[in-house]
Amino acid sequence: MIVRTLAALAVLSTAAPAALAERILLQGGDVLDVRDGRILSSTDVLVEDGRIVGIDGDLSGDVTADDTIIDMTGATLLPGLSDSHVHLTGRSDIHGFRRLAVSLPRSTVSGVANAEKTLRAGFTTVRNLGAPGFADVALRDAINDGEIPGPRVIPAGRSIGITGGHCDSNLLPFEYRDQSGGVADGPWAVRAKVRENVKYGAEVIKFCGTGGVLSKGTRIGAQQFTLEEMSAIVDEAHLLGLKVAVHAHGTDGINTALEAGVDSVEHSSLISDEGVQVAVESGTFLSMDIYVSDFILSEGEAAGILPESLDKERQVGRAQRERFQAAVEAGAKIAYGTDAGVYTHGLNGRQFAYMVQWGMTPIQAIRASTIGNAELFGLSDQIGEIAVGKNADIIAVNGNPLNDVRELEDVDFVMKDGSVFVNALGE
Ligand code: ARG
Repeated sequence: MIVRTLAALAVLSTAAPAALAERILLQGGDVLDVRDGRILSSTDVLVEDGRIVGIDGDLSGDVTADDTIIDMTGATLLPGLSDSHVHLTGRSDIHGFRRLAVSLPRSTVSGVANAEKTLRAGFTTVRNLGAPGFADVALRDAINDGEIPGPRVIPAGRSIGITGGHCDSNLLPFEYRDQSGGVADGPWAVRAKVRENVKYGAEVIKFCGTGGVLSKGTRIGAQQFTLEEMSAIVDEAHLLGLKVAVHAHGTDGINTALEAGVDSVEHSSLISDEGVQVAVESGTFLSMDIYVSDFILSEGEAAGILPESLDKERQVGRAQRERFQAAVEAGAKIAYGTDAGVYTHGLNGRQFAYMVQWGMTPIQAIRASTIGNAELFGLSDQIGEIAVGKNADIIAVNGNPLNDVRELEDVDFVMKDGSVFVNALGE
């Protein structure tokens, strides 16, 4: 039996190795059962071929000299975290008109760096809700091929939106004829866009159902797409087996998207009590990015965010937190979605403390990012908890996140699919 020291473990994977043959015993840590919120103290977790094959008090008898043992004493193990709303190709220091100078290849290179930052922060699965030119599909494939380190990526490809809407590009005057790849108007045109996204690798459909904060000339309260168009998007996506995420801040757009049957409402900033009720009854997830407002209002101007966007953020930021609290109280399903890319990648864990400040218990916030998101992603059989048969996506922190959820802002150990990417437990 080889007991590897922490020093030996300093040599960690940078990309997933091609073959996963060995067994890894994570020994003696405290394992958080996210389902019932209990911590199983001093418990072993055995990993083989990228999956969890055993959880028990003492599994040392199950390993041989060829296996690896990692000492987890004193650490709390949790399932890998997930973020239901990121933009890996986005950079927090490049906003507004600066984005016009960023080429597709350049933003893809940023995506490579940001994927690694995200994984190292303990986020082993993300939904990328919109990227130009299917850059997120390329990132997913490079990560799955083991070429670059990164989380499991569920890509949306191009976000679908109306002409001049939040998902269009509205910065340049008419003579430039600038338009985003996901723009479509009318029920059949949006269906065609869904089909095209699927053809080029999208695994989730994102569309813009209201104006937004960061887009030029759009109104937060204004609905974008009619019910007929939204229903066409949802119907087409569901026919093809994909879920639908709608960007929606304003009350009317949220209500219409709920009526159309979307699977998650992103932002949900001005959701009404009736909207919350509909979400509770239909089981629609609310993915509310309640941290990002602090970034936008403190660092946004220096990053190039337009003055009109800063004004819009002032209207929406606090209201969104209050609506989050109302949604939590009403028992709505809440996803853990942050809009990383607007703010800095790798800080995805910052939102936990905000969710606790605005009405959740630490275990509720952790559930949102684990079993909750797993359900939203349709991946409950693979991810979201430390359980036999699930993928070995396991993170650990030196403290107890149930006492202080901010422990999750600084994750000390990251394993994805049985490969160790970070181990700073002894430090
Ligand atoms: N991408 C979103 C938009 O432009 C960011 C919204 C951020 N603000 C907020 N309070 N969540 O609309």
